[in-house]
Amino acid sequence: MSTAFGDVKRITTHVIQAMKDKKEKISMLTAYDYSMAQIVDAGGTEIILVGDSASNVMAGHETTLPITLDQMIYHAQSVVRGVKRAFVVVDLPFGSYQGNSKLALHSAIRIMKESGAHAIKLEGGSEVKESIERILTAGIPVMGHLGLTPQSIYKFGTYTVRAKEEAEAKKLIEDAKLLQEIGCFSLVVEKIPATLGKKVAESLDIPVIGIGAGKHVDGQVLVVHDMLGITHQFNPRFLRRYLNLYDEIKNAVGRYVEDVKLKDFPNDSEQY
Ligand code: KIV
Repeated sequence: MSTAFGDVKRITTHVIQAMKDKKEKISMLTAYDYSMAQIVDAGGTEIILVGDSASNVMAGHETTLPITLDQMIYHAQSVVRGVKRAFVVVDLPFGSYQGNSKLALHSAIRIMKESGAHAIKLEGGSEVKESIERILTAGIPVMGHLGLTPQSIYKFGTYTVRAKEEAEAKKLIEDAKLLQEIGCFSLVVEKIPATLGKKVAESLDIPVIGIGAGKHVDGQVLVVHDMLGITHQFNPRFLRRYLNLYDEIKNAVGRYVEDVKLKDFPNDSEQY
C-alpha cells in the first residue's frame, strides 16, 4: 500500500481484527516519546499505546490519576511523529470522560485532532457506556480496558489480581460483551486469572489484549519501561524483562563521569 509515508503497510483496525480471525497473536507496547516510538515501531509491534502509565514512568507519579489531557496530547504528538507503521492508541486520562459523554467526545476529538493518533482507550464497562457510544458517533475507534483499571485504584485499594471471585468475573464478562456490542474494536484486560482471560477471548469476536491475563488472549501488552528494565523496582509475576537498562544506563553514566574526571574524555580525536 502506498501511503504518505511511502510503501509501508500501516496497521489498521482491520489488520488487527484479521489477526484475531487468523489466530495470529497481536503485540502491543507503550511509548511516550518520539525516540522510543521510532524504536518500538521499527521492532515490529502492531499497536503502540500512549498509556496514561506515562504518569508513573515519565512523570514519577504514584498513580495514573494526575496526568492531564494536555500532557497526554503532548506525549501522543511526540509518538505519532516517530511512527511509520504501528497503530497508535492513546489513553483518555482520568477525569476526561467519566460521567459526562459530551466531555468524553470533546476529549477524544482533541486527542485525534491535535496528535494524529488512530484510536483512544478508556477504562470501564457499563459505567462508561454512554461516553463510548458518543465517541464512536464521531468515527473514533475505541479500545476498552477491564480488570485492573488503574484509574480506579482508590476504589480497589490495591493492585492485586482482579475478578478472582465469581461475581466480579461474571460482571467482567458481561462488560466485555457490552463493549463489543456497542462497537469497541478491541479490549485490554489487565491482571485477571488466565482462565478468565481465555474465557473472555473465546467469548468475543474482537481482539482481547492482555497484561497479566495469561497466554490464551489474542495479544499481549507491556509497559516498555518495564520490559526494557528501565524501571527496576516493579516486579509483578506477569512481567518478562528483555533487558536490564537501569543497570546498563547507570553503568554507562558511571563510566562517562569517570572519564570526565580522569580527563580521558574528550581525547584528541574527539575535539576540533
Ligand atoms: O497505561 C498503560 O500503560 C496501560 C497498559 C498497562 C495497558 O493502560
